[in-house]
Amino acid sequence: MKGGPIVSDQRANYDPYAAIYDEHTLGVTGDVAFYRALALEAGGPIVEVGVGTGRIALPIAEAGVPVIGLDLSRSMLAVARDKARAVGPTVSPRLALVQADMRRWALRRPVALVTIPFRTFLHNMTAEDQLATLECARAALLPGGRLALNVFNPDIAFIAAAGQAGGRRRRPLPGAVEEEGSYEPTAQIARTTWSFRQSGGRVVRFSFALRYIYRYEMEHLLARAGFVVEALFGDHVGSVFEERSTEMVWIARRQD
Ligand SMILES: C[S@@+](CC[C@H](N)C(=O)[O-])C[C@H]1O[C@@H](n2cnc3c(N)ncnc32)[C@H](O)[C@@H]1O
Repeated sequence: MKGGPIVSDQRANYDPYAAIYDEHTLGVTGDVAFYRALALEAGGPIVEVGVGTGRIALPIAEAGVPVIGLDLSRSMLAVARDKARAVGPTVSPRLALVQADMRRWALRRPVALVTIPFRTFLHNMTAEDQLATLECARAALLPGGRLALNVFNPDIAFIAAAGQAGGRRRRPLPGAVEEEGSYEPTAQIARTTWSFRQSGGRVVRFSFALRYIYRYEMEHLLARAGFVVEALFGDHVGSVFEERSTEMVWIARRQD
């Protein structure tokens, strides 16, 4: 894989979070099984964009499917690399980890599946970034290859509450985590800082921004980037997408 220039992107710098990511991240119910099933169907090497600590990529590699995982964060990749080594010599060669920006990368040999799990796509802050990411994915796919990704279904109640509070919000989360943030409705951007209180009293802070995407916006983006939507689910077990769904789970095919 070839990556373009790495630009420091403070809107999604996972480095400070990498060491405690696995402890605090459960993912979305069923996501590992969902992406693993698609990978087994694809058969060959697959690409995971925003591979992080390998939470999803490792079980796929363990199931026998090679994964090319790209991520902007060196620290997240380092955790993934250590975990792959710990699993053993049959699995670690099946996980190729590359530091690259999801908006600028290319493969030497196309693949049958590209995935962008766990809302990573929302780290694209502009329509140009969103399109650049989708265009890289399309270029990496074989004719008829698939792209699978999941993002939040924007929560109207959360957005309305943020609006009443002048855009600011603050709340405790489970596991001694404090959340502070704001939401800008016109930009569709949620900015969040999590403060993790460690046992020795040390506090780890992780700040990130997500640009929310609505259902038909995603449909238009996929069409503009040369994809045909195959399915939209409301979760990772194939439920129909509806108002109450917390997630939008998309499968799209490269259009040729
Ligand atoms: C929510 S985590 C998901 C990690 C993993 N896929 C999982 O499901 O646990 C998002 C990941 O996207 C990465 N990321 C954020 N912006 C990126 C970019 N522009 N290019 C590549 N990776 C990026 C972060 O470093 C982080 O590892």
